[in-house]
Amino acid sequence: MAAGIYAGIDIGSLSSEALLLGQDGVLAYSIMSTGANPRRAARKCLEEALAKAVLDEKAISAVVATGYGRIRVPFADREVTEITCHARGAHFLFPRTRTVIDIGGQDSKVITLDEQGRVSDFVMNDKCAAGTGRFLEVMAAALETELTDMGRRSLHAKRGVSISSMCTVFAESEVISLIAEGYGEGEIVRGLHEAICRRIFSMTRRLRVREEITLSGGVAKNQGISETLKALFGMRINVPEEPQIVGALGAALYARDMEFKEG
Ligand SMILES: Nc1ncnc2c1ncn2[C@@H]1O[C@H](COP(=O)(O)OP(=O)(O)OP(=O)(O)O)[C@@H](O)[C@H]1O
Ligand SMILES: [Mg+2]
Repeated sequence: MAAGIYAGIDIGSLSSEALLLGQDGVLAYSIMSTGANPRRAARKCLEEALAKAVLDEKAISAVVATGYGRIRVPFADREVTEITCHARGAHFLFPRTRTVIDIGGQDSKVITLDEQGRVSDFVMNDKCAAGTGRFLEVMAAALETELTDMGRRSLHAKRGVSISSMCTVFAESEVISLIAEGYGEGEIVRGLHEAICRRIFSMTRRLRVREEITLSGGVAKNQGISETLKALFGMRINVPEEPQIVGALGAALYARDMEFKEG
């Protein structure tokens, strides 16, 4: 048995994560914004995780990078796609996962898995901000509310206002009009969550979605989103304690495989 430390680095369009995996599980992780320099974000993230674990970089046996910026991680031994890493990470946390819904800053994906946790199929929306964290960030600014507070506010509303446009620019104007018409913030936010979730649900039409569903990506921290998805899919939905590190966890598990394979 190898007794190494393995690192997974996920360079997303909005945020970057580094996760250190030891023999007994996750040792430490860090999350920060990617900014304009993914290479620097990767380095800073790794350093922060190492500092938290009180470890030196030399202790790391293998590094796997994932996310859209994975080719910008010069110290990575290997790159693995996001789809594969999210599937692996979600299956590790919840072994009965057969579907992963990853809602990130700039895209959203639905991935189906076989019993072993291997990817069998996926659909992805990366053409526009609709159905992503970025969409909610723009709406939070229009409503002058905190992004982290949107979930709680929407859960207090009795119903959601119908939002007809999914284009971020038009939906923003619609939200401004709804505020002027006197609709409450909670109702508007709930309507936005319903619009995003319906869009994700319709993306899955050609997939075979099976229980259990596991969420990943930063938007899963919004309880309004997870509750709406649960109602739409009518299935059990797992929300990891820290959904933003699922991809980095999957990458670290692939780093661990490398050492096993290479002896
Ligand atoms: N506490 C929170 N509450 C609600 N939303 C959050 C919270 N933290 C992060 N988010 C949302 O998560 C999004 C970022 O998610 P994530 O880190 O998964 O994206 P990413 O991996 O950088 O993007 P992508 O996968 O599209 O490249 C942000 O747009 C933000 O809307
Ligand atoms: Mg991501």
